[in-house]
Amino acid sequence: MILLLLSALVHAVLASASRSSKRGLIYIADSSHPTDVDDFLSKSSDLTWYYNYGPEPSPPLSNTSLQFVPMLWGTSDNNGANSFLDSVKSQITSGSKIQYVLGFNEPDGSKDTGGSNVSPGDAASTWQSQIEPLHKLGVQLGAPAVTGSPDGLKWLKSFFSACNGKCTTDFIPVHWYGDFEGLASYVGQVGAAYPGKEIWVTEYADPNANLSDSQTFYNQSVGWFDRMENITHYSYFGSFRSSASNVGPNAAMLDQDGDLTDIGSWYLGGNATGNIPNGTAAGLRAFGFWLLLVLVTALWTTI
Ligand SMILES: *[C@@H]1O[C@H](CO)[C@@H](O)[C@H](O)[C@H]1NC(C)=O
Ligand SMILES: *[C@@H]1O[C@H](CO)[C@@H](O)[C@H](O)[C@H]1NC(C)=O
Ligand SMILES: *[C@@H]1O[C@H](CO)[C@@H](O)[C@H](O)[C@H]1NC(C)=O
Ligand SMILES: *[C@@H]1O[C@H](CO)[C@@H](O)[C@H](O)[C@H]1NC(C)=O
Ligand SMILES: *[C@@H]1O[C@H](CO)[C@@H](O)[C@H](O)[C@H]1NC(C)=O
Ligand SMILES: *[C@@H]1O[C@H](CO)[C@@H](O)[C@H](O)[C@H]1NC(C)=O
Repeated sequence: MILLLLSALVHAVLASASRSSKRGLIYIADSSHPTDVDDFLSKSSDLTWYYNYGPEPSPPLSNTSLQFVPMLWGTSDNNGANSFLDSVKSQITSGSKIQYVLGFNEPDGSKDTGGSNVSPGDAASTWQSQIEPLHKLGVQLGAPAVTGSPDGLKWLKSFFSACNGKCTTDFIPVHWYGDFEGLASYVGQVGAAYPGKEIWVTEYADPNANLSDSQTFYNQSVGWFDRMENITHYSYFGSFRSSASNVGPNAAMLDQDGDLTDIGSWYLGGNATGNIPNGTAAGLRAFGFWLLLVLVTALWTTI
């Protein structure tokens, strides 16, 4: 009897999705579907933190249990490069728990691929005026999050040279787009280059893979991150609809109707939903139908 119970228990544990407090949400506002974010806010969700590529929290997430992690995206004025420090300090003063901040987003990448295109020297000086002072306030600082391309780690090395010992970093954020073997090998490379630093994987996915490869990649990567003591945080890319995904529909956590896919639900600690993502936007389908109707009507009236 005890054996039976035990085996039932083991089975239940294996059948449900793995749970983890390391998981965060990459929040990208979707003004056409503002309620999509609700999918990520169930009480039992595994998510503990979020970032939005900016210094200020996002209203739909402000009063939730998710801890906000501000980011200084680039060095141009219009993304808050000259007010980052003041903004974070005032959040702390007004009682927000700001434990971590993130440095520049893909500074080695060009703007058309989402990078902030910053030189290591500019990043080092902006770091010292806008980010470094937060260290004295007890905030932990994440290094610039370079791309996973071979140029990324070269950029980071130049950044630290330009800093000349004056940029403190407590953890190294990593971005990776590719398969699981590549991910593990790249994280290993970063760990070897910066020994003793914690690693956050702040963007990652296996882009443009089929559904079964995407799900296998997802399972392998979360399993591995959860076992690795020095990988303390990770945020999967991404939290958008499959029809709006720029990394292929199957990587997305929401389907074309805004409902959680299997991966999306697993990420929150839930069971598979069976929602199959595809690249067709519901709005576009409706538009196509409408267009057809207009054409048929036009044809009909012409005849
Ligand atoms: C992924 O893991 C879930 C449980 O977390 C499991 O149900 C599913 O079969 C796995 N899929 C693959 C492709 O490994
Ligand atoms: C969050 O809650 C505080 C106090 O409960 C309130 O003043 C504030 O307006 C809320 N923020 C949002 C974005 O809802
Ligand atoms: C984790 O970091 C500690 C020091 O903080 C180091 O001794 C250890 O080798 C690291 N482990 C891995 C797997 O990188
Ligand atoms: C998915 O793609 C892989 C190649 O990466 C292929 O081996 C596999 O058969 C494909 N699976 C399906 C269900 O199409
Ligand atoms: C997932 O499914 C299992 C088995 O059907 C069930 O016991 C468990 O409560 C479900 N978990 C969630 C979070 O719904
Ligand atoms: C995409 O999914 C919708 C259901 O949400 C379905 O109606 C549509 O046929 C699917 N399109 C493709 C190309 O699979």
